Amino acid sequence: MQNNYLKFMFIGDIIAQSGLDVFLKHLPQLKDKYSLDSVIVNGENTGKNGKSTTDKIVNRLVAAGVDVVTSGNHIWENKEIYGFLNNTDKLIRPANFPADCPGHGYALYHINGKPVAIMNLQGRGFMRETIDCPFRKAESLLTFLKTKTNIIFVDFHAEATAEKQALANFLDGKVTGFFGTHTHVQTADEKILPNGTAYITDLGFCGAIDSIIGMEKEIIINKFITQLPAKFKPVSIPPFEIDGIVVYVDSFSGIAKSIERIKIIDNEPV
Ligand SMILES: [Fe+2]
Ligand SMILES: [Fe+2]
Repeated sequence: MQNNYLKFMFIGDIIAQSGLDVFLKHLPQLKDKYSLDSVIVNGENTGKNGKSTTDKIVNRLVAAGVDVVTSGNHIWENKEIYGFLNNTDKLIRPANFPADCPGHGYALYHINGKPVAIMNLQGRGFMRETIDCPFRKAESLLTFLKTKTNIIFVDFHAEATAEKQALANFLDGKVTGFFGTHTHVQTADEKILPNGTAYITDLGFCGAIDSIIGMEKEIIINKFITQLPAKFKPVSIPPFEIDGIVVYVDSFSGIAKSIERIKIIDNEPV
């Protein structure tokens, strides 16, 4: 690729300490292999027991070269992060929560002087239905972000495939890239949409493969059988996988030229 292309990597929900360790172990090789200019990860499950995150974890990711950490529904489960959310531009939360909620729904940063925006939104299908409409929120935020840059990405943290496809096609041609998170299962539908937006329904996750969404299987199976509340426990036994995409972007037009899906398997303990 020529020099006027910027290379972005996006990684799906990183699960707890072991997911974090395995991601950080592979990050230098990934940066080299793809000549990455920017890395964005979803960190909503990086905290204890896979819930929320901490300022220390976000700072560790940033020190390793991550530009922005996105999140989702689990971000609110550690109240100690609320103050940090208000004061950082490295960790964002879904923009379509009430404005009074801590934190910001987008981040603006620079790569070699070129501004880049990343927006975080949450779906309503099979999730909390009372948050603001992600379609309208995306539209209004875009009006603002377009005055700042033509490289804009969206992390849509949502359960329903149709909702992800609907919002992606609603924004097709208006944003550089649109990727889903939250299900922890990578989809094999990466593509450039008709009007130019790079798309994947779900990035996947970074965690233990022999699990249910990164968590101990027995607990989740029992939860479905008994319908009783249960505390999930992350699995920290290999093999692990690291899921995401790499997107090549024309730095002048802000248009995505290609999208490549990545899935790395690591059989070593962390
Ligand atoms: Fe998650
Ligand atoms: Fe989630």
